[in-house]
Amino acid sequence: MSTAFQFQEWITSHSERTEQALDRLLDSAQTTPHRLHEAMRYAAQGGGKRIRPLLVYAAGELGGEKEGSEALDAAAVAIECIHAYSLVHDDLPCMDDDDLRRGRPTVHKAFDEATALLVGDALQTRAFEILANTNCDAQVRLKMIASLAAASGSRGMAGGQAIDLESVGKKLDLTGLKQMHAMKTGALLSCAVELGGIAVNLNPAQMANLDHYSKALGLAFQIVDDVLDATADSQTLGKTAGKDAAANKPTYVTLMGLDYALKQAKDLQETAIASLDSFGAQAQALKDLALLVVNRGK
Ligand code: IPE
Ligand code: IPE
Ligand code: MG
Ligand code: MG
Ligand code: MG
Repeated sequence: MSTAFQFQEWITSHSERTEQALDRLLDSAQTTPHRLHEAMRYAAQGGGKRIRPLLVYAAGELGGEKEGSEALDAAAVAIECIHAYSLVHDDLPCMDDDDLRRGRPTVHKAFDEATALLVGDALQTRAFEILANTNCDAQVRLKMIASLAAASGSRGMAGGQAIDLESVGKKLDLTGLKQMHAMKTGALLSCAVELGGIAVNLNPAQMANLDHYSKALGLAFQIVDDVLDATADSQTLGKTAGKDAAANKPTYVTLMGLDYALKQAKDLQETAIASLDSFGAQAQALKDLALLVVNRGK
């Protein structure tokens, strides 16, 4: 008889796996230039919920035991490098101008602005270098690189960040807000799930179900981020609370109100979980991650 799935144990072991893979695949702080490599490690290590790597590994569970192990580690680190870079740039004075991230000074505060720019540049290219050098099937590598590039660029995260900056002080309608969220946050979360599926060679029908799951989860994630910005304190968040209202950003909370935002996040969580029906028990980690994302901060 198989033992019941223990989500807490799964989270602990896969969080450790993420930290080890990051430590192994990032250049050491002794690499020249020292200050840049030290700042890259500062940005990528020592904090963060690691939701994107956990999504990579959770999607990888659908491929069965040990399948695609090296590709999964590479994908987990690559997506976290892109995410960490997006945070470093998001916090710069020319973007959200934040001093606190993951409970510590932001990279431009702990180092300096030029270093923060270069950290973002270099984490981004390191992500693709890691994928390109992974010891796995060449088709798998190529698909992972294409997926991460599309999700990170002007039609994905970077494009969403551009809409975010353009929208300061403006009133987006719900369609516009959803599009911004889907791009700035949803794209990388969906990509994390997709990378896991690619790494373990899922078939097109399975990938389509995963896509439904991750699109719903991605939107729910940013709605919850908006809610927490308005309701939690900086110490709990590890980043400055109340930034969105202070910067006059359109969010789910400002546009639709707190109750609607919470209800919407819950509905999306249910949609995400229902999209996994055909997978059975192997999708338990993905289902539990959807619950975690929407209930965090409660
Ligand atoms: C914060 O992401 C930025 C958004 C896309 C909303 P996370 O909430 O995943 O941040 P970390 O990685 O846990 O610090
Ligand atoms: C950030 O959105 C999205 C990216 C970093 C791509 P936010 O600006 O809301 O993220 P936080 O709240 O600063 O983490
Ligand atoms: Mg921002
Ligand atoms: Mg921000
Ligand atoms: Mg936010």
